[in-house]
Amino acid sequence: MQNIIISNDLSADMKRVLEGKNTEQIFILCDENTARLCLPRLLEAAPQLKDRPVKVIGAGDAHKHIDTVVEVWRWLQEQGATRWSTMINLGGGMVTDLGGFCASTFKRGMNYVNIATTLLGAVDAAVGGKTGFNFNGLKNEIGVIRESEYVVEDTTFFCTLDRANLISGMAEMLKHALISDEQRWKELMAYDMDTFDLKALSPLLEKSINVKEQIVAEDPYEQGKRKALNFGHTFGHAFESFTHEIGRPALHGYAVAWGMVAELYLSYVTLGFPKATLLEATHLIREQYGKLEFGCKQYDHLYELMTHDKKNVQKGEINFTLLGGIGDIRIDQHVSRQLVEEAFDYYLG
Ligand SMILES: NC(=O)c1ccc[n+]([C@@H]2O[C@H](COP(=O)([O-])OP(=O)(O)OC[C@H]3O[C@@H](n4cnc5c(N)ncnc54)[C@H](O)[C@@H]3O)[C@@H](O)[C@H]2O)c1
Ligand SMILES: [Zn+2]
Repeated sequence: MQNIIISNDLSADMKRVLEGKNTEQIFILCDENTARLCLPRLLEAAPQLKDRPVKVIGAGDAHKHIDTVVEVWRWLQEQGATRWSTMINLGGGMVTDLGGFCASTFKRGMNYVNIATTLLGAVDAAVGGKTGFNFNGLKNEIGVIRESEYVVEDTTFFCTLDRANLISGMAEMLKHALISDEQRWKELMAYDMDTFDLKALSPLLEKSINVKEQIVAEDPYEQGKRKALNFGHTFGHAFESFTHEIGRPALHGYAVAWGMVAELYLSYVTLGFPKATLLEATHLIREQYGKLEFGCKQYDHLYELMTHDKKNVQKGEINFTLLGGIGDIRIDQHVSRQLVEEAFDYYLG
């Protein structure tokens, strides 16, 4: 399993991460926001990194691009990085995906450490070894699966995140609870998403990461069980693409939260998922994530977007991950188109 550190003492934990490493061979990757907001805190906790080269790339998914990859490779080469060097990726999912890819391919692969600075990154992107970049209009089209040597998580980095990014990350935590057990779900329901106390978040984060970690350990290359992590994402990706088309792009976690409402409804109708939990989740998601506005005229198009999601389509049929109950994962489920439309109706309420 990956070495995941949920830190309460960043200095001590960075000492552990850097132990036995030649600091001369450490390279730090940030985006323009994490360079400003997170790097000072890292250097304060790990002063031995103060003179190390830092590469700052543009922030946002538009920079998760081959040009940025080339820029990072060139920088590593100019800085004299070797296969025995280590790259520290300090950032959200964009930096850890792209940095993980650059490190995994440079000199046939050097070690890298992810320090997750967004909640979405911490609970999802930084864990599990999926790396890559967007290509030719398709997200994460090119990449490799190769785990980082360490993942370091410290919720104090999240204090500069805006609310939208916090609740976007929380959507993946809600997903992890729904695919694991009742207790985790209850704990999350009790968490106050209005005040977002970062100290109280830490133990919940740890449990949430364990869910992903265990699933990835059982099925690193997505042959079966890892598909559980797609819960909420079949509708979610269609909603996400739709928001881009209409020029009002939603953060990934919002689309996943909306997708979970529709997929919980399908779970309720086809597998008897408990109605009370369906209603509880629907209420919470409407309250915290609002609702994507569309009408029945858009059903055809949204359905088509789902059939374009290559990851979820086999032999022309959409593959859903649904739930018989909390933690009762059923992968490769198929439902009629009529039922998908009913799920849109339910979503719109
Ligand atoms: N590899 C995986 O398994 C996996 C899983 C989920 C998502 N992803 C990828 O992750 C990316 C989304 O991740 P994300 O939401 O972290 O996006 P992101 O890395 O683009 O971060 C979102 C924004 O927050 C800024 N930011 C980062 N840390 C900050 C901080 N501490 N304070 C203030 N601002 C900060 C960033 O600069 C950026 O502007 C996508 O590219 C997605 O494809 C990968
Ligand atoms: Zn996701």
